Amino acid sequence: MTNSETKATLSFSDGSASLEMPIYKGSVGPDVIDIRKLYGATGMFTYDPGFMSTAACNSSITYIDGDKGELLYRGYPIEQLAVNGGDFLETCYLLLNGELPNAAQKTEFVDTVTKHTMVHEQMQFFFRGFRRDAHPMSVLVGTVGALASFYHDSLDINDPHHREVSAIRLIAKMPTLVAMAYKYSIGQPFVYPRNDLSYSANFMHMMFSTPCEPYKVNEVLVRALDRILILHADHEQNASTSTVRLAGSSGANPFACIAAGIACLWGPAHGGANEAALSMLEEIGNVDNIPEFIKQVKDKNSGVKLMGFGHRVYKNYDPRAKLMRETCYEVLNELGLQDDPLFKLAMALEKIALEDEYFVSRKLYPNVDFYSGIVQRALGIPTSLFTGIFALARTVGWIAQWKEMISDPEQKIGRPRQLFVGSPKRDVPPIAKRG
Ligand code: ACO
Repeated sequence: MTNSETKATLSFSDGSASLEMPIYKGSVGPDVIDIRKLYGATGMFTYDPGFMSTAACNSSITYIDGDKGELLYRGYPIEQLAVNGGDFLETCYLLLNGELPNAAQKTEFVDTVTKHTMVHEQMQFFFRGFRRDAHPMSVLVGTVGALASFYHDSLDINDPHHREVSAIRLIAKMPTLVAMAYKYSIGQPFVYPRNDLSYSANFMHMMFSTPCEPYKVNEVLVRALDRILILHADHEQNASTSTVRLAGSSGANPFACIAAGIACLWGPAHGGANEAALSMLEEIGNVDNIPEFIKQVKDKNSGVKLMGFGHRVYKNYDPRAKLMRETCYEVLNELGLQDDPLFKLAMALEKIALEDEYFVSRKLYPNVDFYSGIVQRALGIPTSLFTGIFALARTVGWIAQWKEMISDPEQKIGRPRQLFVGSPKRDVPPIAKRG
C-alpha cells in the first residue's frame, strides 16, 4: 500500500472542525481514506452498517472486481486456476504461500497434508454425542472447535511454525470431519482416510465407501468436486472471513476462529444459499410455476428471494457461476442425467430472471450457489451437507486470511463502534412503579 499525493479533507458545514486524512493506494481496486484519526480529532465515528464502504484490513490474498465479474487468487484469474491451475491443493498452496508451487514444492505439500488427514481417535466420541439428525453445520461448528482440545502442540499463535502446522491440520482434517458428520447422520461406520488417493478422491472415498464396498473413483466426479473446492476456496473479506479475522484479532486459537467462521457461513444469506437454492428449485417444482414464483420474489412483503441470485460485490455475472454451470453440464452428462428436471428448471428460471427488468435494473445475476447445489446433488451429496462442503473448501481461505492478519503489524483487536439510540441514563424504579 502506498500513500497517494491527494489527501481527503473533511469539513463541517458549521465550521466546527476540519480534518485532512491520508489516502492509500492498493495495487488494484479502489483507494481508501485513512479515518483512524477521525474520532480523536472530531469526537465522531463513521456509520457504516454492513461495511458497505469500509476496508477493515489490507490484504494481498484475493481480489474481486465486482463490476467486471473478476476474481483473482494472488493475482491469478479463477478461470485459469480452475482450468489450468492443477488441483485444489495447488490452490491451497497458492493461497497460503502467495505463489503456485513448483513440482518439488507440490510433492512436499501434498505429502504433508496427506499425513495429517486422520483425526484423533477420540474425536469420534464427539460425533456420537450428537443426535443423528443434527444439522452437519452444527456438528462441524462443534467438532472443528473441539480440535483445539486435541492439538495443543500447535496453539501458540505467536510461533510461525505452530501457525503453519495448525493451517495444515485444518486443511487436512476438514474432509475427514465433514465425511464423519455425513456417515454419522446415516448410521454408517466412519471411514478412515486413504493416503494413496488425491485430496478430493479421498473425500469421496470417506463419504461413499462402506466396509462392504469400496468407492470406485470416477475422475469426472472427482474433478467436479475439486472445482467446487477451488471456486469456494477464498473470497476476500466476506462475512465468514471477517468473522474469522475478528475472532482471531483477540488472539483466539485458529481452531476456535475457524469454528466461528463455520457458524457465520451457515446463514442462508451466505454459505447456506446453495442449500436454500436447491430447496427453492424443489419447491417451485415445475417450469409452469416460475411466473408465480417470480411474482412473489418481486413482492417486498412476501419475504421470498431468488436464492442463488445477487451478491454484495458482484454486480455482473459471478465468474464462479459460469465455471460451475460448465461443471454442471459435465457431471450430468457423465451420469446420464442430461434431462435432470431440476437442472432444466434452474436453466429456465435463470433465463427468465436475466431478462426480467426487476433483476436487470438491480444487477442481480446468478452466483456460484445457483449451480453448485445441482452439481453436489448429482455427486450424491445430501442437501444438508452442501454448506459443509463449502466450509471444507473455504477453510484454506479462512486460515490464509487468519495467518495474514496475525503477521500484520497494523493488526489490532477488532472493536467496531456504535451510534447509541437507546435510553440515556435513568434510575431503576421499584417494581410497583413499573408500567
Ligand atoms: N432476490 C430478489 N431480490 C433481491 C435478491 C434476490 N436474491 N438479492 C437482492 N435483491 C434485491 C433487494 O431486495 C434490493 O431491492 P431494493 O433495491 O428494491 O430494496 C436490491 O436487490 C439490492 O439488494 P441488497 O439486499 O441491498 O443487496 P445486498 O448486497 O445487501 O445483498 C445478498 C446481497 C445477501 C447476497 C442478496 O443478494 C441475497 O440475499 N441473495 C440471495 C441469497 C444468496 O444467494 N446468497 C449467496 C451469496 S454468494 C455466497 O455466499 C457464496
